[in-house]
Amino acid sequence: MKQTSFRPAWGNMCGVAFAVALMGSPGYCLAAAPPKAGPMRVQPAATMEQAVQDGGKIFAQDSFGSKQTWVPNGAFGSHVMSCAACHTNGGTTEGVTPSGARLPSLVGAASNYPKFKAKKHAVYTLERQIVHCVRAGIMGQPPGYNSPEMVDLVVYLTALSKGATMGHQMPAVAH
Ligand code: HEC
Repeated sequence: MKQTSFRPAWGNMCGVAFAVALMGSPGYCLAAAPPKAGPMRVQPAATMEQAVQDGGKIFAQDSFGSKQTWVPNGAFGSHVMSCAACHTNGGTTEGVTPSGARLPSLVGAASNYPKFKAKKHAVYTLERQIVHCVRAGIMGQPPGYNSPEMVDLVVYLTALSKGATMGHQMPAVAH
């Protein structure tokens, strides 16, 4: 599955509306904006199975309040942004970014964390990577570190890494 287009859904209309507003008819942009998709709200999971299931749903469907849309290849309409826009098939296969860059699958990805990000001069936890993807990829409002949404996503991604070697990226510690 490959993306064929990627565009802000209402950006242009709001640009026009802004010009109209300057000419003395304010409010068009607000009136034209679709209702906020809003983050998906889930209950804290009572079991690990539930967390994996909810995490998968959030991964596939949650727009985190973003107004971005994408058009899956062969689809009739556009979808709201979600993790699935770039990380194909729930992250289980190779993905593709809006600009066409290939992404490795997320199978085993959770075992790469904590990860040193040389460009940022920082050690990233899996949660911080998720926050980064929501902000920069989805252009949405990231879930709080202790929110059920974050917990479910971390659990889902960790389940995709079942059996991967933990700590493979780490320097050795004398003990
Ligand atoms: C617009 C495309 C896009 C979207 C949407 C997106 N990501 Fe990503 N994701 C990337 C790119 C590009 C990378 C690799 C480079 C980077 O870290 O920016 C990445 C990397 C990752 C990694 C790290 C993989 C590794 O091996 O270190 C994880 C985990 C991840 N994304 C999870 C998510 C989750 C969860 C969501 C939804 C909340 C999401 N992504 C949404 C583009 C996206």
